[in-house]
Amino acid sequence: MTSIVANQWYVAAYGREVGRELFSRTICGESILFWRTEAGEVTAMSDRCVHRRFPLSQAPSHLDGDTVVCGYHGFTYGSDGVCVAVPGQTRVPRTARLKAYPVVEQDSFVWVFIGDPDRADTTQIPRAPWLAQDGWTTVSGMEPLAARASLLVDNLMDLSHETYLHGGYIGTPEVAETPITTEVDEDAGIVYVSRHMDDAECPPFYATSTGLTGRIARWQDIEFTPPCLYKLHSRIAPVGSVPAADGTDPDAFHVEVVYAITPETENSTHDFWAVARDFALDDAEVSAFLHENNRTVVLQDVVALDVLESVIAGEADGYQELSINIDTGGLAARRLINRMAGEGAEARVPAAR
Ligand code: FES
Ligand SMILES: [Fe+2]
Repeated sequence: MTSIVANQWYVAAYGREVGRELFSRTICGESILFWRTEAGEVTAMSDRCVHRRFPLSQAPSHLDGDTVVCGYHGFTYGSDGVCVAVPGQTRVPRTARLKAYPVVEQDSFVWVFIGDPDRADTTQIPRAPWLAQDGWTTVSGMEPLAARASLLVDNLMDLSHETYLHGGYIGTPEVAETPITTEVDEDAGIVYVSRHMDDAECPPFYATSTGLTGRIARWQDIEFTPPCLYKLHSRIAPVGSVPAADGTDPDAFHVEVVYAITPETENSTHDFWAVARDFALDDAEVSAFLHENNRTVVLQDVVALDVLESVIAGEADGYQELSINIDTGGLAARRLINRMAGEGAEARVPAAR
């Protein structure tokens, strides 16, 4: 039984990672080749030549205009994955085609659909508009995680761990002390977890980037669209400041922390992270600080979750957990993911392309 949910869109890369060089990444256990056509469109197809399985991302495989030429014996494929030329004969076998993946570039991400391509509905891709929008400045990266994706979901749905694992960066005592509220939109399949701290210490992450000194109002509003896209709407403001009735919020600083949680395999994950802000837009020092600081925080999680993966993987007969109030968001996320896994499994068609 696989823990990876099929028939879903997953973030495979940042758009900036895909160009006129052949680029390969394993997504949900599938080795996928990405490249951009001369017109700039991102393509996604299997990274295994149909002839003898040579990886098309491996030199001397190369692009020739809008075709990719296998570096072993020269099978040549178009941007749709269909083979257009083979060596030593004019007839190209009808079945010589690479599996092609539905692919969409949106909000700075490259999304691929894993599963039955006929079920790929681009309107289902969740949005993170701030990552590529005027009025916002974003820093971002991706860290490889040697742990199953569900451990990162658990981690991000419960931010009380900030106090302990990320003290001195983003954690302060108030995060763990303040209760959360959890809501699930069953129809949309979204989990919301909120924690509003109205009088809290300002952690270095926000003190240095915003210049606020003293105590702050700190709101954390999580919005998770399983299986892949996690958003933390973070609001930092002087104590007592609240948004105006018309929705404007001039005294506050807003940070959108976005994670894309993409399984690489059953037991490893691509941990995409991005931090978008609506202040100090052109300040390179603030960008450098937030990039370095957030990456450090992400790596603190990576170290902890890699350890957890090896612990759990060693407990062959399953393991017991004990959940408390802080876990309600994570448990809701698990429930939605299990529901999607059931639906995906039932409709999963072997994609023989
Ligand atoms: S393995 Fe690609 S052409 Fe032979
Ligand atoms: Fe964390």
